[in-house]
Formats: sequence, structure tokens, C-alpha cells
Amino acid sequence: MTKRIARVDWSGIRNMHAKAAGLDNVINLGIGQPDFDTPDHIIAAAKSALDEGYTRYPPAQGFLDVRQAIAKKLQAQNGICADPETEIMVTVGAMQVVFNTMLNFIEPGDEVIVMDPGYDYFSQIRLFGGVPVTVPLHERNGFRLIPDDLKSALTSKTRMIVVNSPSNPTGAVFDRALMQEIADIAIAHDLYVFSDEPYEDLMFDGRKHVSIAALDGMKERTITAFTLSKSYAMTGWRVGYAVGTATVIAEMEKLMEHLVSGVTAVSQRAAMAAISGPQECVAEMTAAYERRRHIVYEGLNAIEGVSCIMPESTFYAFPNIKDVGLPSWELAEHILKDQQVITIPGLIFGAHGEGYLRLSFAVEDDELKEAIARIKLAIEGLCK
Ligand SMILES: Cc1ncc(COP(=O)(O)O)c(C=O)c1O
Repeated sequence: MTKRIARVDWSGIRNMHAKAAGLDNVINLGIGQPDFDTPDHIIAAAKSALDEGYTRYPPAQGFLDVRQAIAKKLQAQNGICADPETEIMVTVGAMQVVFNTMLNFIEPGDEVIVMDPGYDYFSQIRLFGGVPVTVPLHERNGFRLIPDDLKSALTSKTRMIVVNSPSNPTGAVFDRALMQEIADIAIAHDLYVFSDEPYEDLMFDGRKHVSIAALDGMKERTITAFTLSKSYAMTGWRVGYAVGTATVIAEMEKLMEHLVSGVTAVSQRAAMAAISGPQECVAEMTAAYERRRHIVYEGLNAIEGVSCIMPESTFYAFPNIKDVGLPSWELAEHILKDQQVITIPGLIFGAHGEGYLRLSFAVEDDELKEAIARIKLAIEGLCK
């Protein structure tokens, strides 16, 4: 084994799920995927694609008509003007874009700014010799970045800032003014930005998603990851897309040839139907998450020792469990053993995630209510 591969850790989420193996009657609030089935018209398009002969190697960059549909969506929804010929690539989910971005930009010793608590980009950064540098996010500020904290984390080795709004695990949204402040810092210090936007559609209370690449002067220094996984309940189809400069996209295409040749042809045809078809399904699923967040919010805040801010987006709640008196791994393991509910320890999302749990509410209403009732029993049981 190389030293390089030893720098990659197993995902903490996977480790938590492994602890549930063999248990009965488990409710899973750990997994970050929609509980809905992929909408019918998308499945129908995939079935027709098979009959139409989409069974051969696709172009490594993705089918041109899919990239054209993506370009239209980017223009209309994100305010990003991208050339489908050169600036967009269809990828294996957003995950491939994370990997390709670190591969393309990170030299050994480069520092990469990540938010804490935030999604776990540590392994991909370290794999290429990069050094993750965390910027704390505070609950009192709704887990939104304080620009001065970002400035304090910069050094002469900083190469890239990773932004993930809406955020997994906190559900926090960075608004236009905050994105502009991050953009100003990136421009002033000549930094790249990797913007990971899997939850762009799952916004509550009428909030608007802002893509940092759409801001003046940012397109040429930003790589953006989008995915169909969350918006269209398509986690298993493995389709996303990268948006970047022609140079970045060409490098990604080159690597795609060597790595896996391309994104499964049938999945790309399903993606075409998703992006260019009716969008009501996205609104309906988002409305369900928006409704369910109240079950979680009210349920958690009624538990002694637990408090939870209202999620602004995504399908994650990030309750504060500091007053329960157990570290997040211990509490998550206790809840699992005592009441068979999977939750994710906040520590997985960084040192500032300690004292929190991540709960997914992409779970049907009755099951969600049952899960919260069980968590209450598990925590009350600790005090006895
Ligand atoms: C922040 C973030 N980035 C990337 C991904 C990967 O998504 P995909 O299924 O598109 O690979 C996820 C999935 O949970 C995520 O939450």
C-alpha cells in the first residue's frame, strides 16, 4: 500500500452504519438520501433509452444534448453562463467532482480551507498531499461563516476555499451578501473556490440559492459540483456535473478516459429527462422535507438537554446535545443500542461538530415521529 492511500480514512458515516449491522427494528436517520423513489417520467426515459440502444460507451465528457440541457438550467437557475462544449462535464455524482478538483489543483503542502462543522472533504484533500485548514462555524451565527474567521485562516500556502451551501450537515444557507464577501476574499488573495452544491433545490421559507460562480470575477476561479442525487431522488443513478473553465473541464475529461470512460449512458438519458422535464417533482419533495423539519425541530427541542435550530434547507437537522453530557459518538452509540435509531455523531463533520448529532429527515412522517420519540426515551433513560 502507498503512503498516499493510507491518508484516506473510511467514512465516519459508514462506520456508524456498521455498528447497526445485525440490529432489528432500526430506524435510519443517518443516511443522506431522499426516501422518495425517482419520479416516474425519469424512470420511463431510462427504460426507453435501453430500447433505443443506449448501451454503448458514452462520450467521456457526457452526451452533448445533456450538456446543452445543463447549460440552459445553469443560465436560468444559477445565473452561470457556461459553454456546453467546453465548460461542463457530466460526472459520477458530485463526488467525482470533489475528487477531480483536488487532483487538478492540489499540490503537496497546499492548504485547503474547509468549514467546521462541514462535509468531510478531508480524505480527498489529504490523498493529494493537501492540508485541510478548518474555519469554525458557530451555532449562534446559524452556522454561517464569519468572513473575518476565513481571513484569519489564510496563509501564503492557501490554495483553495471549499464552500458548501446549503450545508451538509447544518442545513445553513450562505446568502448573496456572504457569498460576495467570500468571493471578494478569493479574488483579493488569488484563490480558487470549490463550490459543492448538491442541495441547491432543497431550500425552505422561499430562500434563494446563490452559486458563487455567478458572481462577478468568480467564474474563472470556481469549480462547481452539481448533482441529480438529492433534487430528483437519484442517488443510485450516479449522475452529477462539473462546471469550470475549459482548461479544468478538459483535464477532467482526460482523466475520465483513464478512470471509468464516462457516466453510464442510461443514467445520462435519465438525467436528461430530469433536467429538461417537469420540475414539479422537485418542489413536491422539497415541500415534504420542509414540512418534516417541523416534526424534528419541535420533537428535539422538547427533549431535556437537546436544542435545535430550525433547518433552512436540505434534509438535515443538527441538534446541540452538549447538555446531555455525552460526547457525540457515545451518545449516537447509546441511542442506537438503546432504541435502534441511527444518528450521525457531529464529530465526523469536524472538531466543532462535537456536541451535535446529524439527523436526516428524509424519512416518512410516521417513522420520523417514532424515531424522535425513541431518541427522547434513550436520552431520558440516561438521567435515570
Ligand atoms: C455536501 C455533499 N457533497 C457531495 C455529495 C455526494 O453526492 P453525489 O451523490 O452527487 O455523489 C454529498 C452526498 O451526500 C454531499 O452531501
